[in-house]
Amino acid sequence: MDIETLKSRRQRLLVTMGAGVAVIPTSSEQLRNRDSQYPYRSDSYFHYLCAFPEPEAVLVLVGGEEPRSMLFCRDKDADKETWTGHRYGPEAARERFGFDAAHSIESLDEKLPELLANQASLWFSLGHDRVWDERITRALNTVRGQARGGNRAPTEIRDVRAAVDAMRLIKDAQEIAVMRRAASISAAAHRRAMRSTLPGMFEYQIEAELLHEFRTSGSLAPAYTSIVAGGANACILHYVDNNRVLKDGEMLLIDAGCELDCYASDITRSFPVNGRFSGPQADVYDLVLDAQAAAIATIRAGARFNDTHEAALRTLVQGMIDLKLLRGTVDGIIESEAYKRFYMHRTSHWLGLDVHDAGEYKQDEQWLSLQAGMVLTVEPGCYIRAADDIPEAFHDIGVRIEDDALVTAGGCEIISHEAPKTIAEIEAVMAK
Ligand code: GLY
Ligand code: MN
Ligand code: MN
Repeated sequence: MDIETLKSRRQRLLVTMGAGVAVIPTSSEQLRNRDSQYPYRSDSYFHYLCAFPEPEAVLVLVGGEEPRSMLFCRDKDADKETWTGHRYGPEAARERFGFDAAHSIESLDEKLPELLANQASLWFSLGHDRVWDERITRALNTVRGQARGGNRAPTEIRDVRAAVDAMRLIKDAQEIAVMRRAASISAAAHRRAMRSTLPGMFEYQIEAELLHEFRTSGSLAPAYTSIVAGGANACILHYVDNNRVLKDGEMLLIDAGCELDCYASDITRSFPVNGRFSGPQADVYDLVLDAQAAAIATIRAGARFNDTHEAALRTLVQGMIDLKLLRGTVDGIIESEAYKRFYMHRTSHWLGLDVHDAGEYKQDEQWLSLQAGMVLTVEPGCYIRAADDIPEAFHDIGVRIEDDALVTAGGCEIISHEAPKTIAEIEAVMAK
């Protein structure tokens, strides 16, 4: 992200805040075992406003007459940099990321009371991190203790996340460019997985193919733990064991997307392990594909967020009746929720820095209206577990098809379109 974009995001937040002070820490490093850390990932809100990549950093925005942004970050330290690599230090960070001022993180606890004093409101994500809640409480109490000296603590604590969520919901040109590239890498990973899959392989071997594509394309990590689910495992929505052998004749469901520059992609494809759809597999697959097409057809600026779910659901329920999985009318089955036996999740979520991205879904009890620049997934599915009342040909067929849609004025752009999707496309890729 360029400096001007970062500065204008901070400026917009300052305008929303009016008077007041915002304190936005990045995430802390997490120990994995003894001296080994989990790979570091910045806090999404902090990243959106700063793009400063190091841990132990805090953004402070001071509103009012003279709005300004300041960063607290680690000092340069030749010894530590020998062990863990480059640190910007406050001065270089200020320049590179466009802050009005930058200070050592060591000075934060001393400076916080000064920054909070005589501000009407504090914008902070209370309840997100207990250590930070305590740190802020200590600073507030310090200011409260200065009452006789004439200092007042903020009387209002506002959730800074809500203000930034509204901004994050609509992606700007730079975000869209990164998300297109992330989706393109993930689509290549799905193609690679299709080309690699053979009966007898383990699910984790296919997962390795996905990871290979992500990393060789410059992605640091998957946006979420990859689901590589063969046969009955496809009917476990959050299956991540990925340790079973893939058998001839069964389906494989892969839900995997890379994270690029902190932006997620989220793609699911389902295909037969042996590369050829059986009749019943094709029936279920084409039903889910039709449901997804119906959902995608609703997306355009001005449509409601829930339109994708309503359209997908009606198509799926009609198909469940046609395939004799359910009996009754479409309206009756939607009313009784009998469809939830085969379709138990919703159809869309926002996508962005977080895989289930920030942003409201309803406003004043109404589903949100879509606007150009929003990105949502479209991911209908049908999961048929083995049961006595289900024809055996359908047992353990789990299908989900998930794409990432960028809302445009007149429709949408499927940014994950490079992942093969029709039966003909999938069979052709797998035949190679
Ligand atoms: N991969 C997470 C989801 O599809 O929501
Ligand atoms: Mn999703
Ligand atoms: Mn997914």
